[in-house]
Amino acid sequence: MKKIRFGIIGAGRLGNVHAGKLALLDEAELAGVYDVNPDAAQAMREKYGVKIYHSAAELAGAADIDGIIVASPTYCHLEGIRAAVGANKALFCEKPLTRTLEDASEALTLLQAYPKVFSVGFVRRYMTKSRKIKQLLAEGLIGKVRYCNVDLPFGKYARMYGDWFTDFDKCGGVIIDMLAHHVDLANWFFGEALSVYAAGMLLDPVQELPSDYAAGIVKYKNGVICNLMCSWQRFGRSGEIMEICGEKGALVMDGSDIITFYPLNGEKQPIDVSTAAEAAKGVEQVNTGNAFLIEAKHLVTAVKGGSVKDMPTVHDAFRSLEIGLAMIESARSNSVILLPLKQ
Ligand SMILES: NC(=O)c1ccc[n+]([C@@H]2O[C@H](COP(=O)([O-])OP(=O)(O)OC[C@H]3O[C@@H](n4cnc5c(N)ncnc54)[C@H](O)[C@@H]3O)[C@@H](O)[C@H]2O)c1
Repeated sequence: MKKIRFGIIGAGRLGNVHAGKLALLDEAELAGVYDVNPDAAQAMREKYGVKIYHSAAELAGAADIDGIIVASPTYCHLEGIRAAVGANKALFCEKPLTRTLEDASEALTLLQAYPKVFSVGFVRRYMTKSRKIKQLLAEGLIGKVRYCNVDLPFGKYARMYGDWFTDFDKCGGVIIDMLAHHVDLANWFFGEALSVYAAGMLLDPVQELPSDYAAGIVKYKNGVICNLMCSWQRFGRSGEIMEICGEKGALVMDGSDIITFYPLNGEKQPIDVSTAAEAAKGVEQVNTGNAFLIEAKHLVTAVKGGSVKDMPTVHDAFRSLEIGLAMIESARSNSVILLPLKQ
């Protein structure tokens, strides 16, 4: 069996997550790495025995590389995307698609009719709980959805000034970096977004320690109002809640593998998505810990020509970023921003 050979651009935290997951798959192998930091590339070479390349284009252009994984910092994603597309290779890019609308527009142009596989790192789509919510909404368990609350405090944020994560122009703060996942889930669940209003700290650099906060409201074409709160701090809560309320009850998804259903009669019903019973029904169990592995399996299956369901597309990536950028524009101008943004 010929293994699908991947090259990774960016051998940092996420590059190593993807390398570790590929190493668990019989049908794939990590064959090359490019990182601007030679020490990071060397460490990956020592751990996985991969060849080091000296540019994104050299890695993507190597004849024995089948697919590229872009795990460089957000503001560098387009460089990796251009290299992979230029070499006509399968491509997986970490979320968010890019930092700016300009870069995202170019990526969209390059990838919307791309003949090779492309997907983006919205790993939460591979969690059983997210898939179950999608299914329950489609089955009408809570009827017509009215509103959604996303509560995403991150009291453990530990990045310091000097790191690209604390540079708003490179990372986009908590809105572009963290909220992107839940904005994607909201888009997946509720469809087309029409308008955005937000306030935020936008990683204001005068703060003694890097921190960020965003509060926003996204209105969807089907009438759903989505309230988004997300923070980076060094104190207080860390956690995640997505609460979806409809005319027949509410569904709540948190950091655990149990969804809670609140029907109209006041009951509270747990829906355990990690039970053996679910597995017995043939549902592949994906908890928060192994969603990256399922993501990698989907990628490999797709590159091998197999069919995969619900792999996030370049349009999904663009739409999530567009909402994040609209939140920033709204916070800056104190006005409601209508979608789509002008490219
Ligand atoms: N899917 C998720 O849940 C998730 C989680 C964390 C981060 N991310 C995303 O993954 C990406 C990487 O984040 P990270 O936490 O691994 O960052 P990181 O800082 O840990 O690693 C980035 C690596 O890329 C290297 N690098 C910098 N510029 C480069 C370039 N031009 N070409 C090649 N390599 C370059 C750096 O030297 C570093 O080794 C970001 O876009 C981030 O938003 C996704």
